[in-house]
Amino acid sequence: MSTTSAPPSTSAAARAGTDALEPRDRLIVALDVADADAALEVARRLSGHVGMLKIGLELFVAEGPSVVRRVREVAPDLEIFLDLKLHDIPNTMCGAIRSVRAFGVKFLTVHAGSGTAHLQACVEAAGDAVGILAVTVLTSQDEVACRQAGHTRALEELVEMRAVCARDAGCAGVVCSGRELSRVRAVAPRLARVVPGIRPAGADLGDQARVMTPARAVADGASYIVVGRPILQAQDQAAAADAIVRELAGS
Ligand code: C5P
Repeated sequence: MSTTSAPPSTSAAARAGTDALEPRDRLIVALDVADADAALEVARRLSGHVGMLKIGLELFVAEGPSVVRRVREVAPDLEIFLDLKLHDIPNTMCGAIRSVRAFGVKFLTVHAGSGTAHLQACVEAAGDAVGILAVTVLTSQDEVACRQAGHTRALEELVEMRAVCARDAGCAGVVCSGRELSRVRAVAPRLARVVPGIRPAGADLGDQARVMTPARAVADGASYIVVGRPILQAQDQAAAADAIVRELAGS
């Protein structure tokens, strides 16, 4: 499992200092593709056009940790965000996180639903090597889905409670939808706010329920936006990314 040549680590506090980010650095593209060849092709095309690439479960399960190193080799200017959304007992999560430390990724996601002590154990396991992002409520979920899953609180309240857990645990940031940004900012102003469910005006929603445009999300306080299909399915992926960066620059 050799994914060496990690970039120098930065502290969680420095990582979360996102106010001064350039528009391009705010754009994270989800490499939601089936294999390494497809991922490397997208990474090559987007090098110089976006700030970060997100490797998620589909690609990581298919290719294993070596895909992190390979993506970095073809796009050395881009940071990497490992979106594994870990959720298990703390002992198992901490073991997984200790393995991720060697990968040289900027962020790793864990689910926030198990509370502050659980998140704190993850933050300690990560040390300064990787920033832990707590996923509040998936952007594919709406109020009905939350109720069906047994939650009795309103969705936004649940997001806020989980942001408080992430703050108290010392996480680098949270993942939330654009619609909860103001509540998250109010309770956890120093955390990085990573927002998926982004759709340029007129784009297909797919399975996302709580969506927002790129400019609106950043204007409302997103530190980073995560975009998958609107860029991956474009005929010219670099041009689609550039259009979003231009939109952010004007926001
Ligand atoms: O294609 P689309 O732009 O909807 O992709 C969104 C990406 O963000 C996917 O990789 C998805 O796994 C991820 N994500 C999300 N909701 C969260 C956390 C991550 O959609 N709460």
